[in-house]
Amino acid sequence: MKIIFKSVFLLLILLGSLNCKQQAKETRQSIAIIPQVAEINQTEGVFQINSKTKISCTKELKAKAEQLAALLRPATAYSFPISETNHKRNVISLVLDNNLNSLQEEAYTLEVLPHRINIKAASISGILYGIQSLRQLLPAAIERKEICKTNELWEIPCVSITDSPRFKWRGLMLDCSRTFWSVEYVKRTIRLMSLYKMNMLHLHLTDDQGWRIEIEKYPELTQKGAQFPEKWNEPKAREGFYSKNDIREIVDYATQHNVTIVPEIEMPGHTLAVLACYPELSCTGGPFEIHPFFKGPNVHEDIFCVGNEKTFDFIENVLSEVFEMFPSEYIHIGGDEAPKARWEACQKCQARLKEDGLKDEHELQSWFIKRIEKFVSANGKKLIGWDEIMEGGLSSTANVMYWRGWLKDVPEKVISEGNNIIMSPTSHCYFDYKYENISTMKAYRFNPVPDNITKEQSKNILGLQANFWSHIDRSEAGVDKQLFPRILSIAELGWSPENSKDSTLFKEKVFIHLDRLKELNVNYYPDSTIIKN
Ligand code: ACM
Ligand code: ZN
Repeated sequence: MKIIFKSVFLLLILLGSLNCKQQAKETRQSIAIIPQVAEINQTEGVFQINSKTKISCTKELKAKAEQLAALLRPATAYSFPISETNHKRNVISLVLDNNLNSLQEEAYTLEVLPHRINIKAASISGILYGIQSLRQLLPAAIERKEICKTNELWEIPCVSITDSPRFKWRGLMLDCSRTFWSVEYVKRTIRLMSLYKMNMLHLHLTDDQGWRIEIEKYPELTQKGAQFPEKWNEPKAREGFYSKNDIREIVDYATQHNVTIVPEIEMPGHTLAVLACYPELSCTGGPFEIHPFFKGPNVHEDIFCVGNEKTFDFIENVLSEVFEMFPSEYIHIGGDEAPKARWEACQKCQARLKEDGLKDEHELQSWFIKRIEKFVSANGKKLIGWDEIMEGGLSSTANVMYWRGWLKDVPEKVISEGNNIIMSPTSHCYFDYKYENISTMKAYRFNPVPDNITKEQSKNILGLQANFWSHIDRSEAGVDKQLFPRILSIAELGWSPENSKDSTLFKEKVFIHLDRLKELNVNYYPDSTIIKN
């Protein structure tokens, strides 16, 4: 008999009077997939993984089969042999199915029957997401990296799932400038994003506090621009940079996990680390020195001189190397918080302003962004900037990342001009803020589609993103706390159908996921908005 998943789940919630032991058992057997899948029917029975369970796949899915086996082997200690043989029973079968072409990219179906499991998709990313849903149907102990000794049955409830994402952009930004994050930590972040079907990792690679990516043409950027001066006594772990090899490793790893790395190279402001190395690109000529975040102004007044052609040579040379390193179709050029004091006082910037008939320094910023966008487009990439790129006039093809949550009309303005937008307002998506300001459930209440937007216009909303600025929490365990569990809200809002939004259900699921996060050594925050029944 088919039972609709939601009613099963609500029934489980009603069983709140069970004693602890029973409740733990119930929890283990309940279905709690985050993000909520588009359609799920639960049928009777279970598939039981045992020592004879196999994985079958075609050649092009071998790598996904290996990923699945790598997930299942450590805790179960079963071998999960992989082959192209079409087994009938006790098999997890991965199939690329062109009949599913009509579904969206990243869509998949997952069928768990008592005798076999079928994951089908039209794309490799869909297969991966089918695997991630299957993983979440297993007990949290499956995440252990050593043999699980608690006699888990490794039972998977029989279900039929058809699933696809609501938005194409389900993002997280990590600020690698204020604090440098190790390659291993970035890879772990990618793994966790993939578990929750998040697909865009935006790396904020440059800022006033440090330049974090190797550029061959400008070695000083990393010889000098990636270190804090000795006098600040900053821990070595907070400085450093990604070499070209590191970037290759991160990008390859991300690709395996269906994550796109979106690099951000900040301009025209937040550029003190560049100016400390190349003061001739500033309006005053310097000299400049990098400060850690709390040892200098939050936003430095010294920014690129846009009246100087050398600035454009530098930016174009840097971006050319960046384009080569990152396959992402999107390149983020920052554009936020550029104080205009230096441009107002600079002869070269003022000459540029007059020459181009610009009204003020906001128009000069807009002129600058448009010039950079031409270069980005000519290289086959799409530009993204923080929402300040609207000031002084927005180019028709730029993508806007909305962050200034206090400016309520920004999304409507961007969309009415026909531009695309990614929603990451301070009000709900800034995860460097305290949980007292943005709890998991407050983040979940965020509506990424403003009320007054038509269905047609809503297509301009690429999706949403959580942002983590790294000036306050500067340890990996600290970032974990800031991100988890509330990032699960962003994951669910980004993927799940709008009409599946259900706070009660979501809260329960997050609570269940805390066990999984614990198994994954995620140092999550004990958010009191996630109730413990
Ligand atoms: C920002 O938070 N300055 C984008
Ligand atoms: Zn200037």
